[in-house]
Formats: sequence, structure tokens, C-alpha cells
Amino acid sequence: MATVLLTGGAGFIGSHTCLVLLEAGHRVVVVDDFSNGSPEALRRVSELAGLEGWRQLAPDRWVAGDGQPALLTLLKGDVRSPRDLDRAFEDREAMGDGGIDAVLHFAGLKAVGESMGQPLRYWDVNVVGAVRLLEAMGRHGCQTLVFSSSATLYGITDRVPIPETAPLQPINPYGYTKAAVERMLADVAASTAGWRIALLRYFNPVGAHPSGRIGEDPNGVPNNLFPFLCQVAAGRRQRLEVFGGDWPTADGTGVRDYLHVMDLAEGHGRALETLQAAPPQLLTLNLGSGRGHSVLELVRSFEATNGLTLPYAVVERRPGDSAISVADPREAERHMGWRTRRSLADICRDGWAWQSANPEGYRGSDRQPGRSLIQVQPVS
Ligand SMILES: NC(=O)c1ccc[n+]([C@@H]2O[C@H](COP(=O)([O-])OP(=O)(O)OC[C@H]3O[C@@H](n4cnc5c(N)ncnc54)[C@H](O)[C@@H]3O)[C@@H](O)[C@H]2O)c1
Repeated sequence: MATVLLTGGAGFIGSHTCLVLLEAGHRVVVVDDFSNGSPEALRRVSELAGLEGWRQLAPDRWVAGDGQPALLTLLKGDVRSPRDLDRAFEDREAMGDGGIDAVLHFAGLKAVGESMGQPLRYWDVNVVGAVRLLEAMGRHGCQTLVFSSSATLYGITDRVPIPETAPLQPINPYGYTKAAVERMLADVAASTAGWRIALLRYFNPVGAHPSGRIGEDPNGVPNNLFPFLCQVAAGRRQRLEVFGGDWPTADGTGVRDYLHVMDLAEGHGRALETLQAAPPQLLTLNLGSGRGHSVLELVRSFEATNGLTLPYAVVERRPGDSAISVADPREAERHMGWRTRRSLADICRDGWAWQSANPEGYRGSDRQPGRSLIQVQPVS
């Protein structure tokens, strides 16, 4: 059993990974500022993992799992704050006498369009946040890290599929911040012996846990196709806009490598085990299915799987998009025996199970009458 710190663990990918880690028998401490995540996600994770006694012990601290230390601890905190990070690394109630064995760093901002309008905010949260985290890891003697990187680093490329050795040519501030953190982590690994680091470049994570209890709950208008499509299906948005019908692809719409978020979460479990079992190293791995699907294929699959019709319109291309982006995922299989197991139909079924049961995301559950989400207990 390891004790693992998840920054941004109340968000989409972090919450699914938290469940996978708890089910594998690990203890989890989450730090999240809830700017795009919710304590309710982790309450539901604790339920799915069969942990007893989810409770709020302070305005910024929740725990679940009988016994001491708790199996799941959630702290409200900002990755840019040394004080918040020290609090997580020193939370003896959360981890007993052992320390944090490894960090999975999900916390960050991820909207490409927003990053073009607010570059400083992106550099601050994504890059300064990573610097502060690495400093805290140094103070607390933790040298194992899994970093959420992105296929956006590859920019616009004609290569299909894309190997990890492809040139990095990001074209927006979001991509630059991911490239900067990857560079910084390579420098850190080279400067001091003992680091175990995995840079995981995700392609297009979508879907939800098959229970429909946890899923993606973006603030405001979704930036990505899949959550948008789910909200159209749920009647929250009128129609889907498909950006570009004249790409050089079979049906003219963009092709992407969609991977089920549970496959991605399991990839993190595998990365953690691989890092812990092997000598110190810096691993850079694509996480994708290796298969491309066009926007229209995704729409058709969603309609067929769920017996729905989705209104859509093909509109102008969006600047900065590319025709095709598909991973070469063979290195992930070679290094950690991981590959995606779930299909596009699984993605569509599970994504809809989440959206149809939670049309307003986690906010809807806050409004359920007669049900208190949180029981505040006095701190002893
Ligand atoms: N979802 C994707 O399509 C995708 C693709 C590639 C890479 N990624 C990367 O994966 C990571 C997780 O993405 P996600 O889809 O789960 O996003 P998300 O927004 O659902 O999760 C990020 C979490 O980080 C938290 N957070 C943000 N700023 C913080 C701060 N300063 N301090 C503490 N917590 C903070 C948010 O509240 C949220 O819970 C991000 O780093 C993202 O860039 C995501």
C-alpha cells in the first residue's frame, strides 16, 4: 500500500483515478481548490470504493474510511501555496507516521481558448503551481511523480499515429505551459539522483465511471466535444457545433483519439506501480487508444448506443485545430503493460449514464431537497 497525494483529485480525471487507487488498496490524500472540482465527487468516490463514514471535519477538510489514518482525505488548498502543500505532506492523521510516497499532479487549467485570453493565469497555475509542488516534494523527501501532460504538445502535425519522439510544437499558452513543466521535470530529474517521474501525455479522455455516479462536470460552456455533446443530449444546449466539415478525413470532420477515462485512470495506477518497481527514471508516455474516430462517428455511436438523436450543425473550422490526432500508444504497453480496453460504445454508454443521471452535474445533487451533502462534525 502506498500513500498517494493527488493534486486536483476532485476534478474529472483525478476523481476517477482516486477510485482506482482506493480500489487497489492505496491511501489517498487530495488537495484541490475546487475551482473546477467538487467535494461531492469525492464523497461519491468514497461510496463507490465502499469506504464508510464520509465526513467533514473542518471547513476545508474531509475524510472517509474507518480507522486511523483515514483511507481518503480531502483538503481544500491551492497548489501554488507552500502552506497548503506542507499541510498535505504533514497531515499525520491522513497518513500516520509514513509520509507521502508519490504525487499524481492533476491540478491545472486546461481550456485552450481561455488560455489565449488569460495566459498569465495559465502560466501561474500550471507552471508556478508545478514549481511550488516540486519544492514541497523536495522539502518532504518525496521523489515519485506522475504528471498530467497532454497531446496538445504535438501541435498541428501530419504524423499518424504520433510517437513520443515527435517534435513538440505547442501553438497556444496551455500547450506552452505543459511543455514548460515537462522541460522543468526533465531538468529536475537530471539534477538530483533518485527521481521517478512519469510524464503522461493524454489524448482525448472522455466517458465516465460505468455507475453513472462520477463523471465530467465542467464549469460553464464545455470546451471539449464530448461533454458538450452530452449536454446537448440532456437538453441543456440546443445543438452541437461541428467545427469544420472539409478536413482531409473520410467524412470531412476532425479525427481524434478518444480514450475512456477509466482506462486513463487505470493507466495512472499502472504508472505508479511501474515507477515504484523500477530504478529511478523519467518516463514519457502517450496515453491513447491508437484508434481515431471522426466527430461524426462519435455522434453516430452516441446516438446508436443510447437510442437518441443529436441535433448538430457543421460550422467553420476553429483556428488551431488539426485534422487528425491519434496516439502511438505502444511505449505505454511496452513500459507498463497498459493499453485501452474500452470501446467507443462503452464511452458513449457510460458518458450518457453520468449525464442523464446528473443533468446539472454535481450541482444538481446540492439542490436535492432533504439531503444534506455534508455533515459538519466538531474537530476533536
Ligand atoms: N481532460 C482533458 O481533456 C485533458 C487532456 C490532456 C491533459 N489534461 C490534464 O489533466 C489534468 C486534469 O484534467 P481534468 O480533465 O481532470 O481537469 P479538471 O479541471 O476536471 O481537474 C483539475 C482539478 O484541479 C483543480 N485545480 C485547478 N487549479 C488548482 C489549484 N491552483 N490548486 C489546487 N487545485 C486546482 C480543479 O478544481 C480541478 O478539480 C490537467 O492538468 C489537464 O491539463 C486533461
